[in-house]
Amino acid sequence: MAKVSRVYICQKCGHNSASWLGKCPSCQAWDSLAEEIQDNSKPSSGARRRWAPVEGGHSPRPITTALSEDGYSRVSTGIAELDRTMGGGVVPGSFILVGGDPGIGKSTLLLQVAGLMARRGPVLYVSGEESPGQIRMRGERLGMLSDNLLILPETQVELIEPHIDKVNPLLVIIDSIQTIYTDEIPSAPGTVGQIRESAGRLLAKCKSSSIPMFLIGHVTKDGAIAGPRLLEHMVDTVLYFEGESGGPFRIVRGVKNRFGSTNEIGVFEMKSNGLVQVDNPSELFLAQRPVGAPGSAVTACVNGARPLLLEIQALVCSSHLAAPRRATSGFDPNRLAILLAIIEKRGGYHLMGEDVFVNVAGGARIDEPAADLAVMAAVVSSFRNLAMDPLTMVVGEVGLAGETRAVSNLERRISEAAKLGFTKAVIPVGKGVAKKMDGLDIIQVRDVAEAMEALLGS
Ligand code: TYD
Ligand code: MG
Repeated sequence: MAKVSRVYICQKCGHNSASWLGKCPSCQAWDSLAEEIQDNSKPSSGARRRWAPVEGGHSPRPITTALSEDGYSRVSTGIAELDRTMGGGVVPGSFILVGGDPGIGKSTLLLQVAGLMARRGPVLYVSGEESPGQIRMRGERLGMLSDNLLILPETQVELIEPHIDKVNPLLVIIDSIQTIYTDEIPSAPGTVGQIRESAGRLLAKCKSSSIPMFLIGHVTKDGAIAGPRLLEHMVDTVLYFEGESGGPFRIVRGVKNRFGSTNEIGVFEMKSNGLVQVDNPSELFLAQRPVGAPGSAVTACVNGARPLLLEIQALVCSSHLAAPRRATSGFDPNRLAILLAIIEKRGGYHLMGEDVFVNVAGGARIDEPAADLAVMAAVVSSFRNLAMDPLTMVVGEVGLAGETRAVSNLERRISEAAKLGFTKAVIPVGKGVAKKMDGLDIIQVRDVAEAMEALLGS
C-alpha cells in the first residue's frame, strides 16, 4: 500500500515544508513553495547510491587497491574546445550537466556533438523540447545528419531506459531535464521533486551502463528556479554556457569536474552553420577594441590552464540622479562598488556624482580579483577622459587600503600578452620579478595611486 503524503517544496532552494508558507524560511523567497506529492513506499532515487551495488553489498578495502580513474580512456566529443573544458574528453559513465539561458545554444552544441559522435557509433538524442522534424531541420543546417543519430521524442524516464539498453549508444543526450518525468512520483515535470527524481534514475542508468550522459538544463534569469543548481551535487561535471544571446560569442565554462580541473573554458562563435570553435580567443576578444579611446583597459585572466586577454570598458559620466547609477555587464556589481570606494578614498577621484558603467567586451565574464586594477584603470581613464597606451596590459588585485596584491600565474598572463604584441605590463610589486618578461617591460606598482600614475600620468 503506497503511503502518499503532501509536501511543499521551495522551487528556489529545495526547502521542504509540511505546510504551505508564503515565504520560504530557508532562502526568504516569497511565494516559492509548491505542492508536491511524495510516495513514501518507494526509496527516493536521489538517495540511491551512485555506483551499481554488488551482490551482498560492498566491503571496505585499502585505498591503494582501488583502481585509479586517472588513466580512464576518455572519448573525444569531436569538438576540441569542449573536450578541454571537461579535462580532455568524456569519461565513460560520466553524468554531465549543461546549463545555460534559454536560446543560448545548448541544443545546437549538443546536436553537433551527437552528429560528430554518430560517425563512430549510435548516439541517442532524447528530446522533450522539439519534434524530430525540428531537430532534423537543425541537423541539416549543421551538416550533422546521420543514420546513427537516433532521435527519441520521449519524456518519461521509464520509457527512455529500455531504449538505452536496446541501442547501447556511445552517448545519451537529454534535452532537457525540465521536460523529463518519472512515473514514480506524481508531481509535474519541471518541479524540484520531478527533476531530482528523474535525474536520480537517469544517473543510476548512466552508472550501471557506463554510457556517458549529457543533461541539458535551462537556467532562469532569477537564479534557476527548479533548475540546474539543484542537480549540481549529483552530477560529475557541470558546464555552463554563457554569452550575450544577441552577440556572436559563446563561452562554455566548467564549474565542477570530478574528472579534471574546473574553470576551464571553451570559446565558440555562433554562426549560421552552428557553433564554431575559436582558436585564438584573446585575439577575438580584442579585435574590436577602440584603440586610443578613454575608458578601455586590457587585462589577462586565467581560466583553468588558459590565459585570456580581455578588454574592460568603463563609461563615467556626470549623473542627474540623486543616487548615481552603477551598472555592470560581465563583472560583479558589488566588487565594482568596493573598487569605486577605493578610487574615491585612496585615489582622490570624486565619483560620487557620476554614473559608472563597466562592461567586459565580447560578452565575456570576469570573476577573479586579478582584474581589479584594470577595472579601476578603465574607470579613472574614462573619468579623466585620458586614453591609456593600447599596448599596455594591467593585472593586480586591490585591497581596501588601496594596496596592490600579487596575482597567481603571472608568467602565463604575461606570455599571453606577449603573443598578442603587448609591450608593457603594469603589475603589483613582487619578490624576484624581472624588469623584462617575454619581451614586455614590467612596471611594478605598490598601490592604486602608483598604478594610475604609471598608466595615465599624474
Ligand atoms: P538553441 O541551441 O536552440 O538554444 P538552447 O537549446 O540553449 O535553448 O539555440 C538557438 C539560437 O541559436 C537561435 O536563436 C538561433 C541560433 N542558431 C544560429 O545562430 N545558428 C545555428 O546554426 C543554429 C542551429 C542556431
Ligand atoms: Mg534547446
